[in-house]
Amino acid sequence: MTLNEAIIARHSVRRYLDKPIEKEIAEELQKTIDECAEKSGLKITLQLDEPGAFGSGMATYGKFENCTNYITFVGKKEDEEKCGYYGEKIVLRAQQLGLNTCWVALTYNKSKLVCEKESGEKLLIVLAIGYGQTPGHTRPTKPMKELCKIKNGDAPEWFKKAMESVMLAPTAVNQQKFVFYLDGNEVEAKTLLGFYAKIDLGIAKLHFEIGAGDAFFVWK
Ligand SMILES: Cc1cc2nc3c(=O)[nH]c(=O)nc-3n(C[C@H](O)[C@H](O)[C@H](O)COP(=O)(O)O)c2cc1C
Repeated sequence: MTLNEAIIARHSVRRYLDKPIEKEIAEELQKTIDECAEKSGLKITLQLDEPGAFGSGMATYGKFENCTNYITFVGKKEDEEKCGYYGEKIVLRAQQLGLNTCWVALTYNKSKLVCEKESGEKLLIVLAIGYGQTPGHTRPTKPMKELCKIKNGDAPEWFKKAMESVMLAPTAVNQQKFVFYLDGNEVEAKTLLGFYAKIDLGIAKLHFEIGAGDAFFVWK
């Protein structure tokens, strides 16, 4: 599965099978986690077989069922965009490995979450992970014209492809609070007012880069 295919296949999944992640799959996932932790400077930790944060067995927390694995992202408040960008790399790798995921900012049991952090560090977000009962489903998106602005003329084909990937990016409560501006070969992505909008922006920027393929552009 290519990264573009993983973007299309990915949907938030909150109901999981009672099936552990196999050792070899967990090891592959761990390699991506280690790379992302090194590049981002964030503390990214995979917790396997830890049912507390989402409830265990038939007990559920939030809209989650059987969620016993998750990844925690710890860093500073100003790392939020980076957290979205590198976290989404892990999401897409998980999809390639046959796993499903859901970003979770709020709907977990904080008192039962296993997460180590030092003073000055913050738990930025959690990612639920496992084998979904279903692959999830498509959801509505804002139209492309609301999500981007083109200076001078029409959007080139590569930009439209990149924006199609952006439209498939997960965002908190599906808010899609960002705008991508194209000026020549320069792209600027800005958040609008929203909740966890910086994490969303990092996720969307990764989708943009993947969708753009080898087109030449620079981030402003
Ligand atoms: C930053 C962020 C925070 C999120 N927080 C939650 C959450 O607390 N609980 C939840 O059930 N889903 C959460 N989600 C999942 C979104 O609701 C979901 O991504 C969005 O509705 C789009 O659906 P999709 O991921 O299937 O494309 C979050 C997603 C993001 C990106």
